[in-house]
Amino acid sequence: MNLTNKTIFITGGASGIGRDCVAAYLRAGARVSVLDRDENALNALKGQFSSDVLLTLPGDVRQKDDIAAAIEKTVAAFGSLHVIHNNAGIASPSKPLHETSEDEWDSLFDINLKSVYYTTKYGLEHLQQTRGNILNTSSMVGEIGQNNHAAYVASKGGMSALTKAMALDYAPFGIRVNAVCPAGVWTPMLRRWAGEQPNAGEIERYLDDIHPLGHCPEGDVIADVAVFLISDAARFVTGCIMPVSGGAELGYRR
Ligand SMILES: NC(=O)c1ccc[n+]([C@@H]2O[C@H](COP(=O)([O-])OP(=O)(O)OC[C@H]3O[C@@H](n4cnc5c(N)ncnc54)[C@H](O)[C@@H]3O)[C@@H](O)[C@H]2O)c1
Repeated sequence: MNLTNKTIFITGGASGIGRDCVAAYLRAGARVSVLDRDENALNALKGQFSSDVLLTLPGDVRQKDDIAAAIEKTVAAFGSLHVIHNNAGIASPSKPLHETSEDEWDSLFDINLKSVYYTTKYGLEHLQQTRGNILNTSSMVGEIGQNNHAAYVASKGGMSALTKAMALDYAPFGIRVNAVCPAGVWTPMLRRWAGEQPNAGEIERYLDDIHPLGHCPEGDVIADVAVFLISDAARFVTGCIMPVSGGAELGYRR
């Protein structure tokens, strides 16, 4: 699974799953451009890799001008664009719907879902030129639901549905659109979510137990599947919501 000479634009690539994807894409030979609002984390990333292959762009995926400028700079720096990986996301608040404020709802949907609208608006014409592809980071809770997490679950259900709609609309251009669908992955976001739970002390054990393969993983397991999905090895795969979940969604539960 070689990504040599591919240019990949990823949102939320400065930490967690996105950061592991950036490292895996670079190892596979790609040039990577990262848009993230965390400038400290972006600088840490910049210190690790050569500026010939990594572009770090501070910005907010809620701002269409940030996304438009970032895609323009990516193409100016690397000459083309082959992949958009929509990965930026937030998981707070952990609340049922009636306790979720309007601002919390809007913020979750703007970051987790509307950002895909902007990256597509500004990136699609470049992907048409390269017959590139789009990868979305969805979540297993968008498929199976989760208690006490209504707005997030809705945003990820939307992400999975949108992936299929985009796959159909862009197939005529030869553009594939897929999603990776993790259950739990140890990242700064999951640690924040764990801290919001009433039984925070038991969460580590719970997160190991929900994965039949026996543990809650790190982001490398997602990154390896992401490399496959954006590579030519997956050239006939589109509209796929790929579970990378250790089997978390399987079987009856109490
Ligand atoms: N960690 C998990 O258990 C898990 C499970 C399923 C899905 N996911 C999804 O994976 C993706 C990555 O999550 P993570 O766990 O690595 O989280 P994380 O918090 O570790 O990383 C998210 C990154 O997105 C960036 N970001 C957030 N809001 C942004 C904004 N408005 N503009 C620009 N950048 C922004 C953050 O700065 C951060 O670098 C998310 O879409 C999340 O929903 C995570």
